[in-house]
Amino acid sequence: MANELKDRQGKDAGGITRRGFLTSMGIGALAVGAAAELPAAPPEAEPAVAGADAMTRLTLLVNGRQCTLLAEPRWTLLHVLREQIGLTGTKTGCERGECGACTVLIDNVPRYACLTLAMECEGSEIVTLEGLMEGENLGAVQQAFLEHDAFQCGYCTPGQIMAVEGLLRKNPAPTPDEIRRGVSGNLCRCGAYTHILQAAGHAVEQKAGKGVKNGGKP
Ligand code: FES
Repeated sequence: MANELKDRQGKDAGGITRRGFLTSMGIGALAVGAAAELPAAPPEAEPAVAGADAMTRLTLLVNGRQCTLLAEPRWTLLHVLREQIGLTGTKTGCERGECGACTVLIDNVPRYACLTLAMECEGSEIVTLEGLMEGENLGAVQQAFLEHDAFQCGYCTPGQIMAVEGLLRKNPAPTPDEIRRGVSGNLCRCGAYTHILQAAGHAVEQKAGKGVKNGGKP
């Protein structure tokens, strides 16, 4: 009975007896003492992680030509085209997917180069404004923009042309509504939209082999 009372008084709120607590403390102290005598473990080597600025070999097919270069994984296609390959026809505008000045074709689909990592494009076919030239002559869409005065400052023009080119590659005979939707991702701050749409309509005719270069009127 006396022992039972002793044990109850010895228990703390957590249900551990005083004897149990002291015993475990003693074992803990022994363990700490033993550990203190062990030689320190050698520091673990840092895992090798490629940084965002580590250069990687990159091969792109641009306008039918293979371009091999060293690139950082974080570089956009826009940066690589302009600053590494020297194709400055692709323009830098907002750099956040709003203006369309940087539009290029990737596997014939218009894409914003500012939102596309260059690394993503390995194995794809990239076409820029320069790639639409037919030898020394302008391509059909380029010529149509010229003939229709489809620009004022001209900064958005490469992107507008690439958007129309991409549309016509997918749909050679778009309706006026489809043309409007096709260039809806490209902004023109000068407001040359009427002429841009006329140029696109003319390019449709040119590509279909029906059009004649008429100095600007559809
Ligand atoms: Fe790419 Fe504006 S620069 S969308």
